[in-house]
Parts: sequence; C-alpha cells; structure tokens
Amino acid sequence: MSSILSAVAWPYANGPRHIGHVAGFGVPSDIFSRYMRMAGHDVLMVSGTDEHGTPILVAADAAGVTPRELADTNNAIIVQDLVNLGLSYDLFTRTTTTNHHEVAQNMFRVVRDNGYMIEQTTLSAISPSTGRTLPDRYIEGICPICKYDGARGDQCDNCGNQLDPTDLIEPRSKINGETPEFRETTHWFLDLPALADELGRWLDEREASGTWRPNVIKFSQHILEEIRPRAMTRDIDWGIVVPGWEDQPSKRLYVWFDAVIGYLSASIEWARRSGDPEAWRKWWNDADARSYYFMGKDNIVFHSQIWPAELLAYNGQGSRGGEPGDYGVLNLPTEVVSSEFMTMEGAKFSSSRGVVIYVGDMLARYQVDALRYFIAAAGPENQDSDFTWSEFVRRTNGELVAAWGNLVNRTAAMIVKNFGEIPAPGPLAPEDETLLDAVGQGFETVGGLIEQQRFRAAIGEAMRLVSETNKYVADTEPFKMKAPEQRERLGTVLHTLAQCVANLNVMFAPFLPHSANAVDLMFTGRGDLAPMPRIEQVEDLGGGPGYPIITGDYSQVPPWGPRAVTPGMAIAKPTPVFTKLDDSIVDDELARMSS
Ligand code: MF3
Ligand code: ZN
Repeated sequence: MSSILSAVAWPYANGPRHIGHVAGFGVPSDIFSRYMRMAGHDVLMVSGTDEHGTPILVAADAAGVTPRELADTNNAIIVQDLVNLGLSYDLFTRTTTTNHHEVAQNMFRVVRDNGYMIEQTTLSAISPSTGRTLPDRYIEGICPICKYDGARGDQCDNCGNQLDPTDLIEPRSKINGETPEFRETTHWFLDLPALADELGRWLDEREASGTWRPNVIKFSQHILEEIRPRAMTRDIDWGIVVPGWEDQPSKRLYVWFDAVIGYLSASIEWARRSGDPEAWRKWWNDADARSYYFMGKDNIVFHSQIWPAELLAYNGQGSRGGEPGDYGVLNLPTEVVSSEFMTMEGAKFSSSRGVVIYVGDMLARYQVDALRYFIAAAGPENQDSDFTWSEFVRRTNGELVAAWGNLVNRTAAMIVKNFGEIPAPGPLAPEDETLLDAVGQGFETVGGLIEQQRFRAAIGEAMRLVSETNKYVADTEPFKMKAPEQRERLGTVLHTLAQCVANLNVMFAPFLPHSANAVDLMFTGRGDLAPMPRIEQVEDLGGGPGYPIITGDYSQVPPWGPRAVTPGMAIAKPTPVFTKLDDSIVDDELARMSS
C-alpha cells in the first residue's frame, strides 16, 4: 500500500467547463483515483477552481461584475458539475481561500530566501485605449522562433516554446486588435537556469522509468533546452499579494506561482479540515509516496517545468543550494499524465462560435455514465480525439447499451423469470470454469492498465470480457433450457453469469461509478462499489468568506477483486441500467449548436 497523491489540474473559474475540459483532467483522474483506492492505496485527490488572473478579470469585465462575484458564480457551477460527474475529490477547493494565499506566500518567501527569485525590470504591455495592463495571453503575434502567426504572449502553441510578449513580432491585442505599448516594470523572476541541472536530472530519471507518455516526456525535455527566468509576478490588481510588496497592490503573484501551488495548499487544507493538520505530509514528505498530475496538454509546462522547479527551489536543491522551509523537503511529481485535446464535430471547442457542450447541459440531457464511457473509451488519451454526436450515440447504443447493459439486463431477467433469486450452482462444466477464469483474470489486466493510466485499453479489455460473457450466453443457450431435467444446469449457468456480471461490474466501477452501484445493488444487494462525492458548505480557515467544497468519505470502498454473489438472494425485475438514445438526438444537438 502506498500513499498516492492524485493532483488534478485547477480549472479556471472564468465560465462553466465543457466536456473537452473534463475529458482532459476530470474523468481520467477519477478513474485512476477510484481504482487506486480499491487496490488498497491511500489516495489523496485534490484540486480546486483557479480564480485569479486575467481570464477571470476579462470575464468579470465582460459580465459587469467584480472578479470575486464572477468567481463565486462559476465556482458554484463547476463544483456542482464535477459532483454530478461523480469525481471523487477528497478536497476540491479554490484559490481565493486564506489558506491558499498563505501557502503560496510561504513558498514564495522560502524560494526567494533560497536565492531563486531574481528581481528584473522588463517591459510590460499596456492597452493604449484603457491604460490597463494587457495580459500575456491576450497578446498575439508572430512567433520569433517558428514564425507561426498566432503565437500568444505567453507561449507559442505551434512550436511549444514559452514566450514573452516582447518577443512577438507584430504584437496585437486579442481583445481589440490594437498594438500594445510597452512600459518598464519590475517583477520577481524564478531563476529557472539555476534549477535546470536538477530539473534535467529529474526528467532523465523519469524518462528512464519508462512510465510517462512518450509525447509528454519528449515535450518536457524539449522545453528544458530553452529554459530562462520566468516572471512570477504580474501587473494586475486581482490575486495573491506579493510578500514584501504589500505596498504595491497592483502587483500580484502570477498563475505560475499561484494555481500550481494549489496542489500543496489543498493537501494542507484537507489535513486541517480532517482534524490532523500534519496529515498531508505523508503524500509530500515521504520519499515513497507517489504523485500523479492530471491535465490537458496546454498545462504540461506548468507541471513538468515550473512546478518541479518551484519545488526544487523550495527544497534548496538547485545550484544555489538553500534550506527547505516548514513544509520540509517536498516530493516532485512522479507522473505527469497529460491528455491531448478533444475537438467537437471536427472543430476546436469555442463558446463564442457555439462549438461547445457544457458539462451541465450534457448531464441534464444524458446519463452521466454514458459521457464517462465515451471519455474513457474514446477520449484524447494519447492523441487528439473528436467528440461527435453520432459517435456518442453509436458508442452509447452499440457498446454500453448493447454489450454491457444487455448482459446485465438479460442475466437479471433470466434469473427473475426462472428462479426469482440467485440460483445455487451445481457442478461446474469446463465452459463455466473457463469463463470464470477469464473474467477473474480481468482484475489483473484491467487494473494494471488503469494503474499505467492506459484508460482506453483498460475499458477495452473490460468490454472484451463482456463480449466473452455474451458469447457464453449464446453458446450455453440458457434461454432454451426449459425441461425439468435441465433445471440444475440452468441454475449453474445463471449462477456463473451472475458471478461474472458482479465481477465485471467491479472492473467498471472506476469508469462507470453510478451504474456500478446500481448493478451491484441488483446482484449483491449492496450498491456501495463507488462512494460518491458531496458538496459541503464550509467556513474559510482564516476568517474569509465561506465557500462550497467537494469532499467525500471513500475509506469503505470494497477491494479490487471478486465480488461474491449469494445463492438465495432475491433479484428484482430489472429496469435497463443504460438508456438507449434515439438517433434523432444527433440532428437535434447539431441544430442546437448552430442556433
Ligand atoms: N487554470 C489554469 C489552466 O487551466 C492552470 C491549471 S493547472 C494548475 O490552464 F496547475 F495551475 F492547476
Ligand atoms: Zn513558435
């Protein structure tokens, strides 16, 4: 049993999240966390909304509300959506808490005292029409490295290099097209070159482990070659106050020294709320603990360069040495689990162009486990993937309903019709043993694939075992066993089927937690395979305004392994677990998108 930190990227609270977002960070992290708990590990799954920075300011301006009001509204929506998705966070919090501000500031002080923050005067972009600072990502221009026209002031999505706005050729504001003016300003820069050797050693070691997705390790090593100091503060008046610059409220910590620190601050908040304020340390200070970071690919640089560099700087492990602060020597990421992008009907998600389906709308119209199934089976795990309504219907009807749902329903229906309860088995025939063995093997194969974050392969393997079980039904033909002398054999076949369904259902629990509970209730009378998260309204730990968190008690989760069915247990007439979709929804949804 190990301590496993499941660190999930912090979604911006600048609007509701769409299914592309949750396909990147949400569902994969939950599949992994649920499985690891069932496998007996001590999992801490943390995240929260990222509520500072320009995306929030820009959205607040557009809505005519304060940034805090905007963050409150979207935090509430996102919390509700993530709970409805069944994402089993131990703590989902936010960056506007007193605890988070304090942790970020503590880290900043130690990193600065260790000598890894350097003060530099640079040019900052100002919008001539408003006089306000123009955020990096709202400036567009030609990339000086690859000449791609459409690079942003923070990075070029074409070549992946990090940029400063002043690097851009022909810079222009993405908000109104005007050419920004550049003005001198002083900021704290993280001295990444002083941490580069250690970062490189860590990446080499991670590469040698062979466990990172190849594109993620390659990209991380590539961006290390271009390493240079990066600004950790910004000209903005919404965010965390910079220690030592309390008299300069128009300068705040940048997202690179804010949201990423949330992994640590949320762990600490969780521990403080649990009654043992030091409990977070076993995930952060124990060298044996493992940490898995889940995100979309636009966040790789955060997690394979900036965050590990900050941890090294805090630990005093760069070329300037130093001493860790009160948090002790902090663990670097074990795995940076990045997905690629999901598109929708062949196009990039875009709220403004209507190419979008928000989580809330999706869940209002479709079963949550149908969405989770689609993401697990066809999500952007190793390459970009496309969500189309026709593919959603095909996967739901052709796979979830026709294969797994049908197996569950006909097994239950045949038992109800012939016995009314789970029959006791007679002597097992070779084909019964073969099927039970094959399904039993699934615990190792499916579990092993999930542990390696190969979710598509894992659910594919579970579905392959469903097909084998459906083939067993076709081969043994229990529906034809009507004669009294066949009754014992019928009982054996249906018992075998009930046992295989109960076991397969354990394997589906990390992917399809809601239906797994329903199926488990049908076949074992328990229905507690997948504990669900809940929303709790809490007080801020430092006297700030209260807020909703996602939390849950996942400690009683059943083990990853066979789930015994009990002969004699009554089975009720089944209602279908999964809803078959009408083909007409494809046209309906496409029409909705274009309206
Ligand atoms: N909110 C930011 C984004 O979505 C950062 C998320 S990653 C984190 O890009 F590490 F900062 F949490
Ligand atoms: Zn470029």
